[in-house]
Amino acid sequence: MASLTVHHIGYLVKKIDKAKEAFTALGYQIEQDTLRDEIRKVDICFLLKDGYRVELVSPYAADSVVSGLMKRYKNSPYHICYETADFEAAFADLTAHGFIAIDAPTPAPAFQNRDVVFLSSAALGMIELIRP
Ligand code: NI
Repeated sequence: MASLTVHHIGYLVKKIDKAKEAFTALGYQIEQDTLRDEIRKVDICFLLKDGYRVELVSPYAADSVVSGLMKRYKNSPYHICYETADFEAAFADLTAHGFIAIDAPTPAPAFQNRDVVFLSSAALGMIELIRP
């Protein structure tokens, strides 16, 4: 398996401003303030604490990519994102290990338009892979 490094924990929230306030009260620092991803119809913000990065994801439209998940999870962590030096090799390895791509690699404005792809495993649910 190509080497993977944890980049962030994706956290679904209904109200991003209230969530930011609550995380700040817990001692998180804002790393990148709220930015709108019009491809996915979500607002995204990055927070840091103790070397951990949390990504707040909040839908702003009923047809956002996470609107279905929101109904199921409410406010909750829902994916771990991994970085890798070799995106193609990691993608192939993950596929060989039973992960199925949910979408095609697509640029993410929240990551300076680096490609991200979401994959799902029957054993552990959803992960995200980000191109270097
Ligand atoms: Ni993410």
